[in-house]
Amino acid sequence: MSQTYTSGILEITYIISSVTFIFGLKMLSHPDTARRGNIVAATGMALAILATLLFHQKDGKPIGNIGWILSAMALGTVIGWIIARRVKMTAMPQLVSFFNGMGGAAAALISMMEFPHIDPELIARSGMANGYVLAILLGLMIGTISWAGSMIAFGKLDGRIKDLRIKELRYVNIFLLIVLLGFIVFIMTRRVSTSTELMPFLYIMFGVAVIYGVLFVMPIGGADMPVVISLLNSFTGVAAAMGGFLYNNQVMLTGGILVGSAGTILTVLMCRAMNRSLFNVIAGVFGGSAGASVTTGVVKEINLADAAILLNYSRKVVIVPGYGLAVAQAQHICHELDKLLEERGVEVKYAIHPVAGRMPGHMNVLLAEADVPYDKLIESDEINQDLPNTDVLVVVGANDVVNPAAEDDPSSPIYGMPIVRAREAKNIIVMKRGMGKGYAAIENPLFYHDKTRMLFGDAKKTLQSLVEEIKNL
Ligand code: TAP
Repeated sequence: MSQTYTSGILEITYIISSVTFIFGLKMLSHPDTARRGNIVAATGMALAILATLLFHQKDGKPIGNIGWILSAMALGTVIGWIIARRVKMTAMPQLVSFFNGMGGAAAALISMMEFPHIDPELIARSGMANGYVLAILLGLMIGTISWAGSMIAFGKLDGRIKDLRIKELRYVNIFLLIVLLGFIVFIMTRRVSTSTELMPFLYIMFGVAVIYGVLFVMPIGGADMPVVISLLNSFTGVAAAMGGFLYNNQVMLTGGILVGSAGTILTVLMCRAMNRSLFNVIAGVFGGSAGASVTTGVVKEINLADAAILLNYSRKVVIVPGYGLAVAQAQHICHELDKLLEERGVEVKYAIHPVAGRMPGHMNVLLAEADVPYDKLIESDEINQDLPNTDVLVVVGANDVVNPAAEDDPSSPIYGMPIVRAREAKNIIVMKRGMGKGYAAIENPLFYHDKTRMLFGDAKKTLQSLVEEIKNL
């Protein structure tokens, strides 16, 4: 086949793939279409890979090393498939972080591989100061930071790495960032005949970027992790887009830009939802110290029979789902309770906090899985206004997102974060296993509040018993 013909087919396939990415992303924004959206975008990606393998030509020659490429793809597919099948829903954020890190590593590797192959003619013409070299260096820097940072985020979410809250790290990080930018300027202003002469500097730059990525995520903790994860996600997108520039590959460019911009928008929305400025999150300036005020008081319990009566004879009930609901996999039985109460004339809504659970939209995904109608899920900001008219607020495995310390205690690490204002409801029932802390590892004064009654136990078992109890009324 002539090169003009094959490159024509390739261009058209890339356009089709780019369109599937855009439609796929759009469909991901609603639980009803999200699954299909994922398939649409994945099909587009498969198409782009297949077309590249079949039709890409360089200097009139098709792609070589097909055996190696297919073997690597087969190995990656099998490993990815096994991990995705085995992962528990509650460990999904770690997995997302890990996969995101792999994207960053791939982008950094592309830069590493391409740097020594920069065309000497280009260097002779314009020196090292050109867009091609800049794309390589930015791809290396951003991809490496994303990889190293995502690995630390993975370790933190998995409970393997603890926060390193040292204020001075902020200055070290700013210094490292300046050093990295300095390396880019330094490399681009060298007078060389081939880029291989500058490889030692590239390796040092890689090392500094790894250290920066690690130190950048280490001090960020507690409730601010979601923001970091989406920020790292946008980094990977930008790094991949740099690869698209290098190879003049539209589909890589579109994919990278979509991931980069979607990640950036999500980061900004998360910051707004958490009432933080992006600078504060990145610089690790959030809330107070880890030593928030100590909460004391009496914890009052409620038994199943009393909880059943209270709920059965209410007019309005609001359920606040949290990470514990996901751990217990209690979404289906929670929906059963909600349907049972509605049959008895009780209005039931769900209060959805933007960072409840462990990943963006975690509660929406869980509740959609249990077929809870989407219009019953009300954002916390909106439902807060309705809480004074709510007879019972039921907290199911949530903790940080209902912690009043975010409003009352300036020394709390979550101070300033918007919450579901549970205290405003007439009665509060909290379902959790014991007095365990949430992700931010702080006390929750709500559990000692006058209106609060604790219903201890695994959320799924408690809800099952509660449903039985209400049925017998
Ligand atoms: P958390 O504050 O993490 O609290 C969850 C509570 O669930 C725990 O206190 C635990 O108490 C209880 N629990 C655990 N297993 C349970 C089970 N089987 N049955 C009943 N209860 C159970 O959850 P949240 O209120 O959803 O807040 C989320 C936190 O994670 C925020 O700090 C947020 O910033 C952070 N985070 C969020 C994300 C995203 S994007 N959503 C990502 C990373 C981090 P017991 O041990 O006493 O049962």
